[in-house]
Amino acid sequence: MKDIKVIGSVNIDIIMSSRKLPSTGETVKADKYYLYPGGKGANQAVAVSRTGIRPEFFGKLGNDYFAEIIINYLKKENMELSIKYGQNTGMAMINVETSGRNMITVYPGSNGDMSIDDFPDVKIRDSIVLFQQEIPLKTIRDFIARIKENGNVIITDPSPYVEDRYILENSDIITPNQTEAQLLAGCDIKSIEDAKKASSKIREKYKSNVIIKLGSRGSLVDYNGELKYFKPYSVKAVDTTGAGDCFNGALASEFLRTGDIDRSAEFANIAAALSTTGHGAFPSFPYQNQVIAIMEGK
Ligand code: RIB
Repeated sequence: MKDIKVIGSVNIDIIMSSRKLPSTGETVKADKYYLYPGGKGANQAVAVSRTGIRPEFFGKLGNDYFAEIIINYLKKENMELSIKYGQNTGMAMINVETSGRNMITVYPGSNGDMSIDDFPDVKIRDSIVLFQQEIPLKTIRDFIARIKENGNVIITDPSPYVEDRYILENSDIITPNQTEAQLLAGCDIKSIEDAKKASSKIREKYKSNVIIKLGSRGSLVDYNGELKYFKPYSVKAVDTTGAGDCFNGALASEFLRTGDIDRSAEFANIAAALSTTGHGAFPSFPYQNQVIAIMEGK
């Protein structure tokens, strides 16, 4: 593999931080708010860049003020930008409580009409390609159909959850979180043993490798017939927004460097944990040297 491409969404995130999340019909007072760029695609691209690889990011913004804010942030990261423009920038409303748990509502905006025709000349060969599911599934299927024979490694995050057989069967690695893994496998995950069973079911169903992101419980790697559990790196989480995206980006960076999936999962566990110690999605993502310092100090 020679490089990393990230194809996906980019949003402006409006984050409200409060003592507890509101229940249905309840109003709670926020202590702080933040306006940050986000979107699962942009987050993964930033995670790749911060962990030491210059990725190319394919996304679609609006012709609006939010797009300017986002572009200014993205230009500060070490990445190649292949950005198209539609009407409105996607937007996420994120409520975060003191424990770090969150609730997210997303308005797709231009992400919702991103199409392969926006990138007619794209050719991707011998790359690690990261997808998530905040752009139309048809667009992802079209990209996969175009690139799958070219020696690429396709890593798909089935988030937001939709089960698309074509996408999942044509991915080399599927990276659900616990909830998505439960839905894909059709069983509950209460323990690491349950996660192992779920991962076997997912692997059988789609004939793809599986990495289940278990958040504060670490991750489970089911790769080339070997099943391994990796413990979490413990931190005091203040905001878990984007931690799964940080995991995928960091995983891809380390996998490109080493080709070692186990080491890459450990690296990604640490990066994702560190990302929860600050507010927002990518503003809190760590850099390669921070992750390595922890890995080597272990
Ligand atoms: O995964 C976190 C992301 O989900 C946020 O940045 C938000 O934009 C939503 O897309």
